Amino acid sequence: MKFFVDTADTAAIRELNDLGMVDGVTTNPSLILKSGRDILEVTKEICDMVSGPVSAEVVATEAKEMIAEGMKLAKIAPNIAIKVPLTWDGLTACKAFASEGHMVNVTLCFSPAQALLAAKAGATFISPFIGRLDDIHLDGMELIADIRQIYDNYDFRTEILAASIRSVNHAIESARIGADVMTAPPSVIKSMANHVLTDKGLDQFLKDWAKTGQKIL
Ligand code: E4P
Repeated sequence: MKFFVDTADTAAIRELNDLGMVDGVTTNPSLILKSGRDILEVTKEICDMVSGPVSAEVVATEAKEMIAEGMKLAKIAPNIAIKVPLTWDGLTACKAFASEGHMVNVTLCFSPAQALLAAKAGATFISPFIGRLDDIHLDGMELIADIRQIYDNYDFRTEILAASIRSVNHAIESARIGADVMTAPPSVIKSMANHVLTDKGLDQFLKDWAKTGQKIL
C-alpha cells in the first residue's frame, strides 16, 4: 500500500519523507488555507521534496476553466497529479488531462457509481472520502470495498486512493480491503506506531535494565 500524506505542511512532509514513509502528497484548498502559503510556491516546494505524485486541486467549477487551471498546475513539476472534483465538468476535465498524459486525481467521491465514471474518464486516482461518509452515519469502508470489487471485475487501472482517513482503523481497514493508496494526515500516520503494550513492555524492559547496572555505551 502506498502512503500519501494529506497536508501542505512542508516540515511535516519532510519529517515523514526522511523516514521513507511518503509515496506522494495530497493537498486541497482547505489544506492550502491552513498552510498560509501561496499554492504555486508551496506545491513547488513539495514537488521538489517528494518524487511521487503531488495532488494539486483546481477550484474552477466549469470544465474549460478547470482545464486552464489544471494545465497551469501541471507546469509546476512533472509529478503533479491534477485534482478535480467528481462533477460532470470535473470528469470532462479529467478526460482532457488524461488524454494529454497528465496524472489526474478525481476527488470528493462518495459513491461506487461516481468511482465507475472516474475510471471510465481515465482517472489515475479515485479518492473516496471515508471519514466524511462516517460523519453522516454512512459506512465509508463499504464504499472502498465496493469500488475495489467493481474495479477488479473489469480490470480498471485507476488506483483507489482512500481519503478522508481520520484514524488508524481507517488506514488498516483500507489496507485489508486492498485500497492501492491511502492519504492521511501526518498525525494519523505517526499514531500508527503507537500501541499500549509497546509502551508497557518498554517501560518494564527499562526498569529491569536499570536493575542490571549495565551500560551499552
Ligand atoms: C484528500 O485528498 C482529501 O482532500 C482529504 O483526505 C479530505 O480529508 P477530510 O475529510 O478529513 O478533510
